[in-house]
Amino acid sequence: MDLTEPEIPEAPASKGHPRQLYMLFFAEMWERFSFYGMKALLLAYMVTELKFDEPKGYAILGSYAALVYTMPMFGGIMADRFLGYRKAVLFGGILMSIGHLVLAVPEDWSFFYGMAFIICGNGFFKPNISSLVGTLYNDNDPRKDSGFSIFYMGINVGAALGGLLCGYVGQRISWHYGFGLAGIFMILGLVVFYFGQKSLKHRGLPPDQAVLKKPLFIGIPTEVVIYVATLLVIPAIVALFNQYEVMDYIMFGLGALSIAYILFISFQMEQAARYKLFAALVLIIFSTLFWGFYEQNAGSLNLFAMRNVDMTVAGVELPALSVNNFLPPAWVILLSFVFAWLWPALNRKGLEPSTPMKFGLSFVFLGIGFYVFYLGCQLSADTGLISLFTFAAGYFFIICGELCISPIGLSMVTKLSPAKIVGMMMGIWFFASAIGEFLAGKIGSLMSVPEDVVDQPVLSLPYYADIINQIGLYSIGIGVLLILLGPVIRKWMGDVR
Ligand code: PHE
Repeated sequence: MDLTEPEIPEAPASKGHPRQLYMLFFAEMWERFSFYGMKALLLAYMVTELKFDEPKGYAILGSYAALVYTMPMFGGIMADRFLGYRKAVLFGGILMSIGHLVLAVPEDWSFFYGMAFIICGNGFFKPNISSLVGTLYNDNDPRKDSGFSIFYMGINVGAALGGLLCGYVGQRISWHYGFGLAGIFMILGLVVFYFGQKSLKHRGLPPDQAVLKKPLFIGIPTEVVIYVATLLVIPAIVALFNQYEVMDYIMFGLGALSIAYILFISFQMEQAARYKLFAALVLIIFSTLFWGFYEQNAGSLNLFAMRNVDMTVAGVELPALSVNNFLPPAWVILLSFVFAWLWPALNRKGLEPSTPMKFGLSFVFLGIGFYVFYLGCQLSADTGLISLFTFAAGYFFIICGELCISPIGLSMVTKLSPAKIVGMMMGIWFFASAIGEFLAGKIGSLMSVPEDVVDQPVLSLPYYADIINQIGLYSIGIGVLLILLGPVIRKWMGDVR
């Protein structure tokens, strides 16, 4: 099996970026607006409006987010094998739009169905739009990393605006208006991609049109079978939400399968390519832990922000959900400039950390960030409210961590994987965050606060402080371990930097 032949993109090796990057930038920006706008509301909506008890809220949030990032594996495979990236992105965008609009319907049934549509849609949209960015550059094109950084900026501008606006509308006006606002922007993202995709020319087209049209099942073409089969998954996901305990087995089973799959593929390849996949595998496994800690942001830290952060600025009480969901992407936007300058500057001096080293640093930063939250808790035991300044400062470090892992990881996957399975590997990269999200739900539920103290900051604070402290310590420990393992992983990476 020949898995090593790279696709040669036609992008000229000029200094600027291919103009298609900006189309992908805006499509992804609006998609992320809706995605993060909705996610900002999710846990608080379940706990305060639907009156789920907290452990159940965390379990559903964890399951939702885990499934959201599990489906990209399937969406990635479907795109590699059949649909091509473009059709996959369009199909995914349509499902996500429907999902967000369904959530806006103020009926009981709509909640699980809306989430299920978003889960399936995201599976087709998210990995494949990232892979499209990868097709704009050759593997060793020095612009590739910075192309991904620009793309990452789009993600975060969308996330910041989405968190800010949907958080405000949802928390202060109506949950369903918040969800609806998210839906409108998803449709905008879809429209951008629909009209912009022609500029991609041959990139992301189906690998073989004939296969797509071939009747697969009672005369129905393969393409249609893929769409219909995906729609059939939706009620299955709704059933899963009703039986969320089953998720433990699913996530564990799929985790083991993905590791086995990467090992299987790697043993079919010649040595250099095999070791590259080993390197990718180890880094991917570590990334699950990163996301498990990091994603407290969309979970426990939403409730923490509502209960235990002093949101008054100049006498005005800011909506906690907006603040908590605006801060991280806003830091990403600011700090992206710093990192975009820092890496090349270090590179020129021969001091740029290797990819594994950056992964290690990401954990160290994340740990420091949580430690700052913890110090805030310690200093405010008497009021139960940590200052907004401390809250923002903690996120500063957490986001330094994110910027050492997330854009680097996307780029690493496209570089270390053989071209023909990039979509699939991108899917596995997202799946690692799925496991992380699931873990995050479990960690979050350790911070469940009993009903009778939710309105008493002094009493709710200790429920958070202890776990936050532990996250900080574990994270720093893991970071140090990774830094020590760095040289071995680098060797496996061969000529890839
Ligand atoms: N926040 C980034 C995004 O939405 C990175 C990310 C991806 C984070 C997947 C967690 C999971 O693309």
